Amino acid sequence: MNRRDYLKTLGVLSAAAILSLYGSFVGRAASQSVTVLVTYHSASGNTEKMAQGVAEGVKVVSDTTVVLKRVGDVTGNDLLSSDAVIVGSPVYFGNMSGEVKTFLDNWTLKFDVFRDRKMRNKVGGAFATGASVSNGKEVTIVTILGAMLINQMIVVSGGGGFGASATTGPDSPGIDEKEMAEARELGKRVAEVAAVVKRGSGK
Ligand SMILES: Cc1cc2nc3c(=O)[nH]c(=O)nc-3n(C[C@H](O)[C@H](O)[C@H](O)COP(=O)(O)O)c2cc1C
Repeated sequence: MNRRDYLKTLGVLSAAAILSLYGSFVGRAASQSVTVLVTYHSASGNTEKMAQGVAEGVKVVSDTTVVLKRVGDVTGNDLLSSDAVIVGSPVYFGNMSGEVKTFLDNWTLKFDVFRDRKMRNKVGGAFATGASVSNGKEVTIVTILGAMLINQMIVVSGGGGFGASATTGPDSPGIDEKEMAEARELGKRVAEVAAVVKRGSGK
């Protein structure tokens, strides 16, 4: 091999090595990206607005993808491909709405993710809206988190002690800025913890 051919071969090999290193870096980065499913039931828009706040909070964390869906639209693949799931419900007679309960029951009945604990070590969070100050918001959140614990998920809170909540009755209609901030804080915390679980703390 003359000097020219040698340099040419060396150049081709170097380019291939650089491309291969770049490819593995990009592949690794993509596989370390965190996906958070934010899902909710909402008949009159309050819980939906909180869900949007939660999704905004998720997006604050870098390398994060958020999937925002009503509970009835969630597929088994949405659950399996998520690193974290945040569920929101209106309070109906002191607990989660029937739609949210059906969604959680479907983790066994329809999606079959309870068997073999397929949600194990995914991160979970919950939020609720209710008309009254003290009429079931915390029960609703804790009951959703209980279903997640039974599925061996890692549940976390946000800025609020249990998750995030809003009072929506006549005394305090709609979702105010403080409640939206709590929703964003929940999304951010869940995404942060999901990133630590997936990538390690780096400490
Ligand atoms: C059937 C039903 C039962 C409800 N029960 C309660 C309740 O026990 N406690 C409460 O604080 N609000 C209760 N509410 C009010 C809703 O939780 C509240 O309006 C909520 O913000 C609605 O959320 P959405 O706008 O996302 O549908 C009830 C509403 C309905 C329709």
